[in-house]
Amino acid sequence: MKYLLTGGAGFIGSHLSEKLVSMGNQVVILDNLSTGDKNNISSFSNSFDFYEGSILDEGLVDKLVASSDYVVHLAAALGVLNIVNKPLESIITNVRGTEIVLASANKHKKPILITSTSEIYGKNTKEFLSEDDDRLLGHPLKSRWSYSEAKAIDESLGYFYYQEKGLPVRLVRLFNTVGPRQVGKYGMVLPRFIGFALKGNNLPVYGSGDQIRCFCHVSDVINALILVMKSEGTIGKVLNVGNNQQISIMSLAKKVIEITKSSSKIIQVPYSEAYSAGFEDIQRRVPDISRIKKIVGWTPEVELEQIIRDIADYLRS
Ligand SMILES: NC(=O)c1ccc[n+]([C@@H]2O[C@H](COP(=O)([O-])OP(=O)(O)OC[C@H]3O[C@@H](n4cnc5c(N)ncnc54)[C@H](O)[C@@H]3O)[C@@H](O)[C@H]2O)c1
Repeated sequence: MKYLLTGGAGFIGSHLSEKLVSMGNQVVILDNLSTGDKNNISSFSNSFDFYEGSILDEGLVDKLVASSDYVVHLAAALGVLNIVNKPLESIITNVRGTEIVLASANKHKKPILITSTSEIYGKNTKEFLSEDDDRLLGHPLKSRWSYSEAKAIDESLGYFYYQEKGLPVRLVRLFNTVGPRQVGKYGMVLPRFIGFALKGNNLPVYGSGDQIRCFCHVSDVINALILVMKSEGTIGKVLNVGNNQQISIMSLAKKVIEITKSSSKIIQVPYSEAYSAGFEDIQRRVPDISRIKKIVGWTPEVELEQIIRDIADYLRS
């Protein structure tokens, strides 16, 4: 199979590219390297074709989709800092870009998997969020919510291409995915904490630190994506992918310090200082993963302690 991966030089895309290559597939990567990095894919660079370009370039997208067997659409503008600071660019990439990729997949009748996000659920604080739960969002003029809005439109577009045109579309809602190659500079909490701890710098916990999150190792996520891509039962469905082992951000900071044996201290930083006045965070974000378990038999395997050790080893090296 020849897979086209948009965003294939990014964190998740590079791991998926590597896995698909190791399974004997051909891989073509389209990435504008805005948050991705060629170093992510340099260790297996003889095994794929790389195109530096944008998903907003309709001609290039169409040429690459036409010559592929399967499209995996991961390219997106993301990271809380990017979304808050460059909302327009983020909306245009995430809405128009996905529309271009989907229209081309439909024109050439190529199966497509789209990576959505748990941000979809917004402020819904349900204990375990399941795919059919409602979204609860803030004001549309708050840039904070634009990523959620854009990704929700992506899901709708994908779903209605499936329903109206019969395109084999699969939608996955990724919850916090972490592991080697993820960078902290766009606001991702775990690589930032571990990076600070390894340097002996203070770990900044925003707000109260009571926010509940869960973290899934990228190797588990890649296994989920492969199973979802291969299953006929996932066509036209949206599936949560994440780990349901939950932890507060304060406890996470403590755990990182303990596991890395760091001398760092924890400092609490108000949201207004970390982002801007009126920034709204999400109190709780834990997936119900019963649907994906039922359809493809996937559950995550890597525990949080191991995840922290893996990222620390990667950052040290
Ligand atoms: N990492 C997570 O925790 C997480 C959680 C939920 C959803 N996701 C989704 O997973 C996907 C991959 O995210 P990631 O964590 O690997 O982030 P990433 O930033 O490492 O990957 C995104 C990739 O898309 C590329 N890109 C951005 N704009 C582009 C454009 N216009 N044209 C071509 N390439 C472009 C970037 O350079 C980057 O390589 C995204 O769709 C994201 O929304 C990730």
